[in-house]
Amino acid sequence: MTFMLRNFLFTTTIILGYSTVILHPQVRATPIPPPKVLVSRAFNSSDPYANWPTYDELPLHPSFPTKAAWGVWGPDDEFGALNHIRPATIRAAKDEIKEGIAINLNLELDIPNPPLVPTRPAIVHAFIPFEGYQDDVLTLNTQVSTQFDGLRHYPYSTNGSRDTYQFYNDLITFDDIFSPGASVKTLGIQNAAQKGIAGRGVLLDWAGWKESRNETFDVFSPTAITASELDQVAIWQGLDPSNFTKPGDWLIFRTAFIKQYLALPISEQEQLPFKADAAYIGLEASEDTLRWVWEKKISMLGSDNLAVEKFPVGAVILGHTRALHEIFISGWGQSLVELLNLEALAEKCHELNRFSFFFTLQDLNVAGGIASPPNAMAIF
Ligand SMILES: *[C@@H]1O[C@H](CO)[C@@H](O)[C@H](O)[C@H]1NC(C)=O
Ligand SMILES: *[C@@H]1O[C@H](CO)[C@@H](O)[C@H](O)[C@H]1NC(C)=O
Ligand SMILES: *[C@@H]1O[C@H](CO)[C@@H](O)[C@H](O)[C@H]1NC(C)=O
Ligand SMILES: *[C@@H]1O[C@H](CO)[C@@H](O)[C@H](O)[C@H]1NC(C)=O
Repeated sequence: MTFMLRNFLFTTTIILGYSTVILHPQVRATPIPPPKVLVSRAFNSSDPYANWPTYDELPLHPSFPTKAAWGVWGPDDEFGALNHIRPATIRAAKDEIKEGIAINLNLELDIPNPPLVPTRPAIVHAFIPFEGYQDDVLTLNTQVSTQFDGLRHYPYSTNGSRDTYQFYNDLITFDDIFSPGASVKTLGIQNAAQKGIAGRGVLLDWAGWKESRNETFDVFSPTAITASELDQVAIWQGLDPSNFTKPGDWLIFRTAFIKQYLALPISEQEQLPFKADAAYIGLEASEDTLRWVWEKKISMLGSDNLAVEKFPVGAVILGHTRALHEIFISGWGQSLVELLNLEALAEKCHELNRFSFFFTLQDLNVAGGIASPPNAMAIF
């Protein structure tokens, strides 16, 4: 594979009266940040997978964080894995619409309540009566109910320290989001909203597979779902693990977390977030998982559990403590869609014995936004 190296000249220009003095870095009094090394894949938009790096070839430069795919879609790219969605993938996905059945994948926005992470407040829904009409106002933490995580949500960091944050393609810093008057909208969820997200979705019903084997599992514990289990789920569903996804697919797996959560007595739903050892089922944080996902060239990953990956998050990967969130979102620009309501979808898939469908997803068009309800739908 070939890489393009872009070099940047770092100079400072000071205007003194009518004369301009150029100070070269070596004579500057204050230290300059290290030059950003921008290595990117040489690619051709009409042949998007020419020079496509294998998992083992990530990252493209050793200065990039763990397994980052920075530069794979160009150094300034803000779409990340959504680039896998192309006119051809949307056109091909229309063949999934056969029965004319549309299924909502979103929870009501006040579920779960109380929120599973206690630092996040529940939605506030206010009604405003006017003369002859009424409005309502939502105050919403986008991480509480069904959610699409955008590329500002979860940077790489070494120890949670803001000065170590690294976002997708190194395009923004913490201050670009939070400093007073910050006007940079880079990596905001408006990108996804304006791109148009649709195509083929695939469901792996991990919970249904476990039940078919009479195996019990605890969604309220850090149960780790492995890539090899997901391959076995595919086989159980009659799919071939080597090719059940296509580039651009939205891959979704079902843990039955929402089903079991909604079946809890209200008193237990109320206590769950405050348990000292609160823990939830999800994907194993490991290189096996990363390799399995990378090779599929999917646009997004979705599930019905809290964090896609198991919670609490984090495992040592290649010498660093990493959450899958860091690598998926800030490494690959690959959004996670969490707390989906997959019950009706799974039922329909089993009834039709078909686990792929057309989907649409429309996040909120909020400039600089961090996450959003996905407003996602599956269509058979
Ligand atoms: C890009 O790929 C297309 C299709 O493979 C090919 O026809 C074209 O010559 C390529 N362009 C460049 C600049 O390599
Ligand atoms: C986190 O790591 C950075 C970089 O190594 C270091 O500067 C900072 O002091 C660390 N912060 C904490 C709270 O350990
Ligand atoms: C699961 O349990 C049911 C009811 O006991 C039994 O009929 C079935 O054969 C079991 N399936 C497996 C795969 O063990
Ligand atoms: C998937 O691979 C298997 C085995 O190589 C092949 O028989 C099958 O036709 C392939 N299916 C698709 C949809 O490409």
